Amino acid sequence: MKASVNTKYGPPEVLEIKEVEKPSPKDNELLIKIHATTVNRTDCGFRNPEYFIVRIVGGLFAPRKHILGTELAGEVEAIGKNVKTFKPGDQVFGLSTFNFGTHAEYVCVKEEKAIALKPTNMSYQEAAAVCDGAFLAYANLKKIDFSTPKKVLVNGASGSIGSSTVQLAKYLGADITAVCDTKRAELVKSLGANKVIDYTKEDFTNCGELFDLVFDSVGKSSFGKCKKILKPKGIYISSELGYMSQNIFYALFTPLFGGKKVLFPIPVDKKEDIIFFKELIEVGKYKAIIDRTYPFEQIIEATKYVEAGEKTGNVVITIKHNN
Ligand SMILES: NC(=O)c1ccc[n+]([C@@H]2O[C@H](COP(=O)([O-])OP(=O)(O)OC[C@H]3O[C@@H](n4cnc5c(N)ncnc54)[C@H](OP(=O)(O)O)[C@@H]3O)[C@@H](O)[C@H]2O)c1
Repeated sequence: MKASVNTKYGPPEVLEIKEVEKPSPKDNELLIKIHATTVNRTDCGFRNPEYFIVRIVGGLFAPRKHILGTELAGEVEAIGKNVKTFKPGDQVFGLSTFNFGTHAEYVCVKEEKAIALKPTNMSYQEAAAVCDGAFLAYANLKKIDFSTPKKVLVNGASGSIGSSTVQLAKYLGADITAVCDTKRAELVKSLGANKVIDYTKEDFTNCGELFDLVFDSVGKSSFGKCKKILKPKGIYISSELGYMSQNIFYALFTPLFGGKKVLFPIPVDKKEDIIFFKELIEVGKYKAIIDRTYPFEQIIEATKYVEAGEKTGNVVITIKHNN
């Protein structure tokens, strides 16, 4: 099968499409023929690690896994003998976050992992563009008690995690202030934002309002800067570790004092979340935001675009099979 392979860390050019052995499913695995995947910031972060912790997880001097890709939509081609809940021909979507491997024509995924039947009202391209942003957003939103209405500010609302956060927070009943540039304001409002602040014209920390949650989904801000717009027991979450990994330390210590605090939940991709996203999609409460779609052969160009940090939502890769 064809796969995008990287045996060393580095710029997008370390990716090389080549023939590798097609995987065979173990007893508890599905073999999935991939029709669409994405290039996301997780792929970029593991291809050219910025943080040392990524090297601890992914390989100290060179990547341990040679095929990137965390999102997929495709068709079950074969199943292991113990698989009960899927059958060949099922159309599926989901994540292979810590195993990667979806930048290829085929991948094997364990039955109990974050895979579900594809939403009936989505194409493979749309379904591939749902899960990474949504699971990262939801891992954070799950830590907030939405049983009473919450005021939420989402910085970077036009990105993958940001656009997912707006949609999921809306579903959870939040009043949302979104921070993005003017050209994406209408899109972000259509996803559920009550108000939009253009970050190119105004510093959102001077907006004069107080929030229960400030979620910096692009990691461009800091707890220190956002404290003044948090309610007395307000929560700050960032998708990035922050300067000198400060968000980890804040998350360890600020909850001890009972006031404004930082949370940094470790995201885990779970099947139940993928099923939840499928249900939301099928009742029209969540949609895929796709900026660009590239053929598999242009994965380096797609990666360069994603790495620029300017995408709206997600960048999809389509994989055409010869058989
Ligand atoms: N915690 C985790 O496990 C985890 C996993 C994956 C990724 N991440 C990190 O999470 C961050 C977000 O990922 P993502 O995929 O959602 O990002 P993304 O889609 O690449 O975000 C791009 C969007 O952010 C907007 N943006 C850029 N700078 C901004 C600013 N200063 N203020 C407001 N909006 C701004 C861009 O708009 P403009 O073009 O107008 O600038 C663009 O629409 C990345 O830093 C990534 O490394 C964390």
